[in-house]
Amino acid sequence: MGRGWSAIVAAATRRLDAAGVASPRVDAELLAAHVAGVERGRLIVAEPPGPEQIDEYESVVARRERREPLQHILGIVAFRRVELAVGPGVFVPRPETELVVEALLAAVSDVPDPVIVDLCSGTGAIALSIATERPDATVFAVERDPGAWHWMTRNLAGSSVRAVDADAVDPTTLSEWDGRCAAVISNPPYVPSSVAVSTEVEIDPAIAVFGGDDGLSVIRPLVDRIFALLAPGGVTAIEHDDTHEVVVPDLLRAKGFTQVRPHRDLAGKPRFTMAVKPT
Ligand SMILES: C[S@@+](CC[C@H](N)C(=O)[O-])C[C@H]1O[C@@H](n2cnc3c(N)ncnc32)[C@H](O)[C@@H]1O
Repeated sequence: MGRGWSAIVAAATRRLDAAGVASPRVDAELLAAHVAGVERGRLIVAEPPGPEQIDEYESVVARRERREPLQHILGIVAFRRVELAVGPGVFVPRPETELVVEALLAAVSDVPDPVIVDLCSGTGAIALSIATERPDATVFAVERDPGAWHWMTRNLAGSSVRAVDADAVDPTTLSEWDGRCAAVISNPPYVPSSVAVSTEVEIDPAIAVFGGDDGLSVIRPLVDRIFALLAPGGVTAIEHDDTHEVVVPDLLRAKGFTQVRPHRDLAGKPRFTMAVKPT
């Protein structure tokens, strides 16, 4: 790292560490790269910061010190091959969800021109990724929260994704597509309301995070909506809490799904379940 940046990044790292930030060094470097206008790996050869950059860095470090999510400060988050604008009012897409998309894409790899629905879309990260990686797909993104809708429509502008302002669990939502979808994917709110979450997660909208007392208040009716939307042989992937590894598969089997398989994330935690509507 350039001499000028090295010392102030080290000082910022100590401040973020003291504030309880989980990855203080990475965050301090990413914020410096943001201010310097270079990629993180290029900080080492970046010009030393001038007075304005030092002031700006102080300001963004102070925001992170107050535990404002890093992605809100940067204004952007990378998700698979796309970038999404993020900020207050919308759930920040998480890397774990990239795996759910990957598994769903693999499951429909031999389906030509698939219709794919993303229920509970937030920024539109899942829907936009699918449309980017499967340009032959017709993709719908369903979101009901006005705060998220603002970000989602901004992110989907110019893409082929069709944004739907609706309740994902309402039986009339996209009902004209009932029985015609190759796949339905969802990362719904699923954290049980009694669970204490980190300061950063507290900043995500509650409607995006919490799923009632047991975390299943959205997933339960969602299973019915997904079953109705899918064509025979259609596949679903539902992200869920790590405590839901048994109950979500049970809900899917009770509905009549077959090939019900829970999946773990790279950290080994139960993360999502896939299932197929019988033919
Ligand atoms: C956990 S966030 C996931 C967002 C996005 N799919 C992602 O993975 O980054 C859940 C999203 O579902 C939305 N949501 C919650 N209940 C909903 C419902 N009944 N219908 C539609 N959207 C809903 C929330 O507003 C939030 O944007």
